[in-house]
Order: sequence, then C-alpha cells, then structure tokens
Amino acid sequence: MNILVTGGLGFIGSHTVVELIKNNHTVIIADNLINSKIEVLDKLSTITGIRPTFYQIDVTDEQAVESIFNNHKIDGVIHFAGLKAVGESVEKPLQYYYNNLVSTMVLSKMCVKYGVGKFVFSSSATVYGDQLSPLKEDMELKQTTNPYGETKAISERILTDTANANDGLAVSILRYFNPVGAHESGLIGEDPNGIPNNLMPFVTKVAKGQLSKLSVFGNDYDTIDGTGVRDYIHVVDLAKGHVKAIEKNESGVKIYNLGTGQGTSVLELVNAFMKANNIEVPYEIVGRRPGDIGSCFADPSKAEQELGWKADLTIEDMVQDAWRFEMNNK
Ligand code: NAD
Ligand code: UD1
Repeated sequence: MNILVTGGLGFIGSHTVVELIKNNHTVIIADNLINSKIEVLDKLSTITGIRPTFYQIDVTDEQAVESIFNNHKIDGVIHFAGLKAVGESVEKPLQYYYNNLVSTMVLSKMCVKYGVGKFVFSSSATVYGDQLSPLKEDMELKQTTNPYGETKAISERILTDTANANDGLAVSILRYFNPVGAHESGLIGEDPNGIPNNLMPFVTKVAKGQLSKLSVFGNDYDTIDGTGVRDYIHVVDLAKGHVKAIEKNESGVKIYNLGTGQGTSVLELVNAFMKANNIEVPYEIVGRRPGDIGSCFADPSKAEQELGWKADLTIEDMVQDAWRFEMNNK
C-alpha cells in the first residue's frame, strides 16, 4: 500500500515507518517538524535502506495536504501528527484543539474525497479517564482532565461519525498505553524538547547526568509499592500494531488498546533501568502530581484476537533500548 504517515518523523511515527517499510509498504511522510528533526529522515534511510518521500507541511493546511493526495495514490493514512504535552495543553488549549482537531478533519475529508479506504488514528488511554484497570475498549469513556485528552476523545468521535457515513472508509482507533524504548539500532527514539514530562525520558536524562534526580510523584497509591502503576509498551511493538491494523481492517470503526496488560510501578521501572544498564538513577519521593491516577493498564486481548497482535518485548528491552538511544543521541 501507499501509506501517508503524518507525524512520521516523531517518536512513534518514525518507528512505524520502519515497520511499514519492512512489510513492503511505500511510505509518504508529512511532518512540520514542530517536535521532530529532519535528521530522522536520514536515520530512517540508514535503518531501512529506503528514503521515504517527505513533505514538510502542516497537516492543518488543507491545500498542502490535498497536494499530497493529488501527487500520490494514497491507500491509507496513519495520523500521528499532533501536540501531546498535557501541561502545555492546559496553558494553550486553543493551540491544542486547533492543531489536533483540524488536522483530523482535514485528513478525513481528503480520505473521503479521494476514496482512501483506511485511516489509523493515534488515540490514548487517557480517554478512559479515572476508571478501574484493566481497561477494555467497550468501557464508557469518562471526562478527561485536560484539553489534550479532549482532543483525543473528540477526534475519536469525528472519525467514528465519518466512517459511519462513508462505507468505503475503515477507521482504526488505537489507544496507546505508555510507549517507551527505542529502535534497537539506537538511531531513533524519544527526543523531547526541554525538560521531559514523562517518566522514561526523565530517567534517561538523570542517568546521563543532565538532570540531578528523579522526583517520584507519590508513594501513597494503592499499588504494589505505593508508586504509580502504568502499562509500559515498547515503541517497536506499538509500531507493529499499526501495521496489523492498517493491513487487517477493511470496514467500519475498530477500536483497540495497544498495551501489554502488565502494570509496572515507578520504582519497579527505575530499578529495572538501574539493573539492566548498571547505572545509578538518584531519586526522591515527592507529592502526587495533580491529575495523576494510581493505576492504569490495558486489557489487550481484543487486539490479539482480532489483529493477531501482541506485545513481545519486555521491560528489560525497553530500559536497555531507551538508554542506548540516549547514549547515542548527542
Ligand atoms: P511526537 O511529538 O514525537 O510526534 C508527533 C509528530 O507530529 C512530530 O514529528 C511533530 O513535528 C508532528 N506534528 C505535530 N503537529 C503537526 C502538524 N500540525 N502538521 C504536521 N506535523 C505535525 O509524538 P509521539 O509520541 O510520536 O506521538 C504521536 C501521536 O501519538 C500523537 O498524536 C500523540 O498524541 C499520540 N500519543 C502519544 C503517546 C505517547 O506517550 N508518546 C501516548 C498516547 C498517544
Ligand atoms: C501521561 C499523560 C497522558 C499521556 C501519557 C503518554 C499526564 C497527567 N498524563 O501519562 O495523558 O497519554 O503521558 O504520553 O501527564 N512520574 C514520576 N516522575 C516523573 C514523571 C512521571 O514519578 O518525573 C510517574 C507518574 O506519576 C506516573 C508514571 O511515572 O505514575 C508515568 O508518568 P508519565 O510518563 O508522565 O505518563 P502518564 O502519567 O501515564
């Protein structure tokens, strides 16, 4: 298939491009580089031996997006492009609603106009709100706590309504749990601007000595050791889930959790990192982070049954690969 990957130079997009090329798909990338670097394109060529066609455009720009559909016969779209910092979304809600919703609308409009049959969307476990894990796709969604989360819930509805009104369009909504790790080559990985908000990139920066210590946000949750429990998933497993979804889904709207089903606490993750990489990560316990929940993990059985996809890589793989990328990444 000819697959348009928006946000294809970002963290999850770049790993998915690798897996798509490995599965003989032709990739066209659209990215405005707001949170990624053009050098990733060279790294993708090094890893795969193929240089994907690249458009530096903003996917909220309808004319620019339409020119891609005019230049290529697109068979499917995987839409990663989006802003994703929860705290920033509270400070700049309009920027988040505009970027994340207009992009979804422009791309789905083009799919309908140009008869594109497949659309895969990056959603998040955040749409479940604060509910008891394991989380299942048929649970009622709860109000999210921030504009970022709302953009995911609203995008899901926009795409569901669009697919219901257009028989030819199959939509796959993928709800990611906590993507971490990096490609085994150490060439591509997660490279956030500034001080990271998420746990794994913070840990790698502390291990590297760029930040003095990790603050563990709370040890009074009802979890194995009191610290927050999450379902960490290796980004390469996550990327493979996208290939399965775009290849398998032929009609209607399908929603899948992409997670491992295993909960890991903050301290378990930090200890696994220190052990596997033989390096110290100084930390201190501080108060809870506002908006955090104690425990969040997937029931991933639907994706296994319907897509034949299951996460294979372990926490050890995740912490080793994240560290390899950090060490390579000057
Ligand atoms: P990322 O920031 O690394 O990648 C997003 C890419 O999209 C970047 O390369 C950025 O430059 C590009 N982009 C953003 N807005 C754009 C626009 N208007 N036009 C063109 N390009 C644009 O983020 P990621 O971690 O790879 O996340 C990919 C998607 O998955 C996002 O939609 C994100 O919300 C979603 N998601 C991520 C996580 C996570 O933990 N990383 C969890 C759940 C969902
Ligand atoms: C966060 C977002 C969520 C988004 C997800 C993936 C919030 C409130 N939620 O989820 O919307 O979908 O990232 O991008 O931001 N932790 C520490 N110290 C740190 C950082 C994190 O102890 O410096 C803890 C957190 O309290 C949590 C766990 O580590 O228990 C994971 O945190 P994080 O990586 O930020 O992911 P989520 O909170 O799951």
